[in-house]
Amino acid sequence: MSATQTDTTIEIRPSAHAASPEERAKLMTNPGFGRIFTDHMVVVQYKEGQGWGKGVLSAYAPIAMDPAASVLHYGQAIFEGFKAYKQPDGGIACFRPEANSRRFNKSAARLAMPELPEAIFLAAAKALITQDQAWVPGAVGESLYMRPLMIATEPALGVRPSHEYLFILLASPSGAYFPAGVKPVTVWISDDYVRAAPGGTGFAKCAGNYAASLVAQRQAQGEGCDQVVWLDAIHRTNIEEMGGMNIFFVYQEKGETVVVTPELTGTLLPGITRDSLLQLAREQGFRAEERKITVDEWRSAIQEGRMTEAFACGTAAVITPVGHVKSRQGNWTIHNGETGPVAAKLRETLLNLQHGLSKDTHGWMKKIV
Ligand code: PLP
Ligand code: COI
Repeated sequence: MSATQTDTTIEIRPSAHAASPEERAKLMTNPGFGRIFTDHMVVVQYKEGQGWGKGVLSAYAPIAMDPAASVLHYGQAIFEGFKAYKQPDGGIACFRPEANSRRFNKSAARLAMPELPEAIFLAAAKALITQDQAWVPGAVGESLYMRPLMIATEPALGVRPSHEYLFILLASPSGAYFPAGVKPVTVWISDDYVRAAPGGTGFAKCAGNYAASLVAQRQAQGEGCDQVVWLDAIHRTNIEEMGGMNIFFVYQEKGETVVVTPELTGTLLPGITRDSLLQLAREQGFRAEERKITVDEWRSAIQEGRMTEAFACGTAAVITPVGHVKSRQGNWTIHNGETGPVAAKLRETLLNLQHGLSKDTHGWMKKIV
């Protein structure tokens, strides 16, 4: 097979020490987020000149790496996150995995890494979900969180793109992202740190973005908050995102419900949940806008009663309302610190779709099993 052809075969090597049904049931009680992993993983190797090799599904296990592997020094590492949901007919379907594959390749291009053909991305997901289907939780709000990643593995200390990479797919049964469940969160507006600057990597899902966010997250927690709200790097006035999520604001204007989310400027991650909610909001009869919104506007719209809700969204967090905002410019409360009707409605609409409880009119659900 030439390097230009795509080999989507995944060799299946079942684990010799898979969890027993009792062990699995125990682990899956109250799974939280990203704490437990299924029995298997998929690994695909890339070598420059040869392209992507044959994928292998084998027991979930540590990977060996040369200490000079360039990911450990210069951080060529990207990842994705999407979910597989139990369906009413007993099958399993993923929410928009092709969109994750496309974003994965945009991240790869920004980090000078090779693109992974969508067919391999999807074949890996099908193989792992099929093999580990007993690990897909059934309750609404629970799912199998799929975590694809790519790292640079060539042992080389020269600062240049690696010639060797590993694509790995692992899976983690998950429930609520925040320990408190779906209660509204308190956020800290960060003006000491920025997440992303024009020309940087904000639109990419690369590991370094998250490494750089941790000190700000720790500061937010020190201020008694759950999450950071990021502002733009230049003016430090425009709201961009919230932690590892996009953010929405709900206005009531002349009897009309308007949902607003910051426009994509290249420094925000183009969330797949964000894109889906813009469409679902319009179908609910709301007006949906992508535009700039400043901290001053957030505060004054709340004070004047024009804004009634704010919520964050993402694959891991689904929809999480914002109850309280803290910043050096003052503190304010949204919807009495409680979940508002628009966030609740959109959350229900999205979850019903993902769990197959409503009709998938967009063709967003990809049947796996
Ligand atoms: N913003 C950031 C920084 C993220 O890490 C995520 C999570 O993936 C999102 C937004 C939401 O994106 P999505 O809805 O595709 O999960
Ligand atoms: C996701 O929502 O999939 C994320 O990646 C957010 C966070 C866990 C990094």
